[in-house]
Amino acid sequence: MKQQKIMVTSALPYANGPIHLGHIAGAYLPADVYVRFQRLIGNDAVYICGTDEHGVPITLRAEQEKVTPRTIVKRYHDDIKRAFERFNIVFDNFSGTSQLHNKHHANLSREFFTNLMNNDYISTHLSDQHFCKNCNRYLPDRFIQGTCPKCGNEEARGDECSRCNHQFEPIELKNPKCRICSNIPDIKASKHWYFRLDVLQKALENWLDTKTDWKENVLNFVRGWFKQGLKERAITRDLYWGVPVPLEDAAGKVLYVWFDAPIGYISATMQWAENKGEKEKWREYWQNPDCKILHFIGKDNIPFHTIIWPAMLIGQKQNYQLPWNVPANEFLTFGLTEAQASDKASKSKGNVVWVHDALDNFPADMLRYYLAANAPEKNDSVFTWKDFQKKCNSELLNVLGNFANRVLKFIEKNFESKIPQPVSFTPSDQQILSLIQSTMAKVHTCFENFEVRNAISEIVSLGRAGNQYFDEKAPWKSLNENKEDCQNCMYVSAQIVNAICVMLYPVIPQSAQKLWEQIGHKGSIVKWDQGAKELPGGHSISVPSGLFNKVEDEMVAVLEKKLGDALAGNSTPKQEESKTEASSEISLEDFKRIEIKIGEILEAQRVPKAKKLLQLKVKIGEEIRTLVSGIAQDYEPEQLPGKKVPILVNLKPAKICGVESQGMVLCANLDGHAVLMHPDKDVPSGSLIT
Ligand code: MF3
Ligand code: ZN
Repeated sequence: MKQQKIMVTSALPYANGPIHLGHIAGAYLPADVYVRFQRLIGNDAVYICGTDEHGVPITLRAEQEKVTPRTIVKRYHDDIKRAFERFNIVFDNFSGTSQLHNKHHANLSREFFTNLMNNDYISTHLSDQHFCKNCNRYLPDRFIQGTCPKCGNEEARGDECSRCNHQFEPIELKNPKCRICSNIPDIKASKHWYFRLDVLQKALENWLDTKTDWKENVLNFVRGWFKQGLKERAITRDLYWGVPVPLEDAAGKVLYVWFDAPIGYISATMQWAENKGEKEKWREYWQNPDCKILHFIGKDNIPFHTIIWPAMLIGQKQNYQLPWNVPANEFLTFGLTEAQASDKASKSKGNVVWVHDALDNFPADMLRYYLAANAPEKNDSVFTWKDFQKKCNSELLNVLGNFANRVLKFIEKNFESKIPQPVSFTPSDQQILSLIQSTMAKVHTCFENFEVRNAISEIVSLGRAGNQYFDEKAPWKSLNENKEDCQNCMYVSAQIVNAICVMLYPVIPQSAQKLWEQIGHKGSIVKWDQGAKELPGGHSISVPSGLFNKVEDEMVAVLEKKLGDALAGNSTPKQEESKTEASSEISLEDFKRIEIKIGEILEAQRVPKAKKLLQLKVKIGEEIRTLVSGIAQDYEPEQLPGKKVPILVNLKPAKICGVESQGMVLCANLDGHAVLMHPDKDVPSGSLIT
């Protein structure tokens, strides 16, 4: 069969903050599962992503922290990249849209703009913009806030109201204020460039008419937009951070972030091709009518990917292919119970579970399993730790993991680790063997159709059927009473385990690979058919061991407490805290209350189940104290004994992951990494820092 070429992208996350589990569930896990599945069935899928590094959200954050946008971009690009690695979301290239990460991007963005100009899809107008005299600059988009023109919410952003979701032009905002200095802005005209979507509406409609099999949520959205009639849209902004508009009379203006961002999909593919040493290879995906292009996104990105971006591609007249599908998901919200779900998950509100925090507590596969089983595919869904616990313990552990373990252990113990030869199958054996085949066919279709939830429920049903079959056959009895029946049962059960293993691979790759090796396979899981093909009698298995740990009540209680605080708005995101500390002044008296001393590290060890934490024994003068420090990702325990470091000694003791920490090691912060500091000369431990 011919290998299908597939280009898969996930929405480029803004490099203005860390990502949360809602992002993963909406746009990244579904794509990763899809790519892994497509590779299993032999297709050539390339998976591209990167950070969205321009625009007002990043500029604003930089100004609030009084650092450059580059600093913000670097910090969160690295943080987000690491989060994906830890979650086992594997890209062929994870790039970014600024100069910092991709030298192709600005060129290609300028080319896109110029082609649209040359093809007559751009118009220009003078338009009224907010201008802050105090800051001496224009205030595009979210640089202003004020009262929503529709619902009267007094905390609306410059281009959107978070209460009624109304989108509008910043100039329509009532009582506008500068977000940096709170001044009331003036109105000043400025020239801007507009993309003539109205001219392209017909072409877009014709193309979308062919997409009858797209997800209903996506099609409904698009139809609504067409009905209102497409309008031209400004694609330039008065801003200094972004891709400069490639025209002489556009000094001080950049391309709108939503114009350059999707171009990042292509520029990141160019970078991928170049890194491979096949510079032109990107064309085999983006300019090849035989390649399927898929954009995985959350629902808030639908108009950009189904209307504006395709219009940009058509307007190029360069043989760019339009998206084959745009599988958009609904939202994941967070709650303590399903009924008390929060509002829309929001980075700035912090009413979420952060990816890094989740991974500090559970292996990626358990989180992947739950997010896939509870994916917001057709409706919004709610993340609760209780439901996570329930799904992991009842399905992943009790049904799937346990079944595999029972079967393999039995073969190890009673058949010298070899799958027994079947004799002649009874109808119940045959029934299960055909259930394996039909389940694999169904799950195949589900994965093709972006229905991962259904795929999982089919796999779990097969696991349940397997357990039931095993119980009914009771091989521990037939072992002595009817050996042939026992052989059949173990042969058939091994086939179920094998098929489940392959089907679960796209969702929980690490655990599936582990099981794969226990089944006695060499190498990696590479083919879907390996699950459908029966393992022969006589095949040797390897040593079975448990795949998952139970999610304990105590753990859930701790995490629920944390989420509860976050939902109540009691957890300011980390960066916000440092901002207020740095900007508000304290008196000398305040400072005198702080006691910092030199301590000598005597011992260091890892804190079990906490990847970031080390437990330290530190000598401070005569005293020896235990401290918990979040430096495990930057220092190995062996590196630490003998080091003398500053310690905040009068910090109120606190229990961290079960260990009482009596103080805090002070570190320099290098883009989120901890760097220890040393005194310039040797100083005895216990010396006071003043
Ligand atoms: N950064 C945008 C968001 O988080 C998504 C950009 S997707 C792209 O909503 F196509 F523009 F890259
Ligand atoms: Zn101002």
